[in-house]
Amino acid sequence: PLVRFTDGDALRAWTLARRAAGQTVGLTPTMGALHAGHLSLVRAARAECDLTAATIFVNPTQFGPGEDLDRYPRNLEQDIALLESAGCDAVFCPAVETMYPPGAATRIEVGPAGSVLEGAIRPTHFSGVATIVLKLLNLAPANYAYFGQKDYQQTVVVRQMTRDLNVPIEVRICPTVREPDGLAMSSRNVYLQGEYRRQALTLHHALQAAQHAYAAGERNAARLRRAMEAVFAGEPQVEPQYAVLLHDGGVEEAHGELTGPTVAAVAAKVGPTRLIDNQLLSPG
Ligand code: PAJ
Repeated sequence: PLVRFTDGDALRAWTLARRAAGQTVGLTPTMGALHAGHLSLVRAARAECDLTAATIFVNPTQFGPGEDLDRYPRNLEQDIALLESAGCDAVFCPAVETMYPPGAATRIEVGPAGSVLEGAIRPTHFSGVATIVLKLLNLAPANYAYFGQKDYQQTVVVRQMTRDLNVPIEVRICPTVREPDGLAMSSRNVYLQGEYRRQALTLHHALQAAQHAYAAGERNAARLRRAMEAVFAGEPQVEPQYAVLLHDGGVEEAHGELTGPTVAAVAAKVGPTRLIDNQLLSPG
């Protein structure tokens, strides 16, 4: 059965007791409204660790003014049932005041990886992400922490933070889980009603255009970028925010002829909803 914690000290006691008993623990941080993408992380943790813990916390410090903090989807009881059926052993669902009691003021400054792309559009986002992830890792000192490729820049920032701050955890990145038509699963997909749902596929189609060109031998970054932009141009209701090629593992843009592993990353607004997606380009 799934053990449920709302108190940080109880979660830490549970984690430390398991580790002292020689068991490995895998942690999956989430903001809830769970879908198959989240559950794939829990399964990866189960496959690798003796015990798995998840966290459900809609972290206010990673939302900017005017973003969707207040209407972010919340289904705690359903989430807990999903975690239980996925075989998760413990879940931490703290109140906001537990994570940010009055007077809490410290924030992680993440450096340049947090100020481009998503960070240019959401200037305080990655500081909030790094701060809450570090707090969760301190409360649940697991062996491994699981993150999704879906939020590629977040994986870069989390890796940088754990390395820079000597956090004793191994970060694992799991593949993006998609709907049958290719749309990357996201808690925010519930916002995509009617025509927006179809328009949302433009992100995946842009990435596919880059992937097809790459598989056909195209290695020029500008031409690959234009292939993505052409897909967005064919769907004028969708407002692209960036379509870039990045050196895999970081957020540095790739220019000229691509040599090493490259990630194509896109962000766009579909009606009022911002969506992101990315794909590691594969030669095959
Ligand atoms: P959230 O958006 O709930 O996502 C939790 C984890 O699930 C993240 O690591 C995310 O990359 C992963 N994920 C989301 N959609 C996925 C998909 N389609 N396939 C695979 N993995 C997917 O990301 C956050 O929450 C927060 O920023 C958090 C790290 C919890 C800090 O608050």
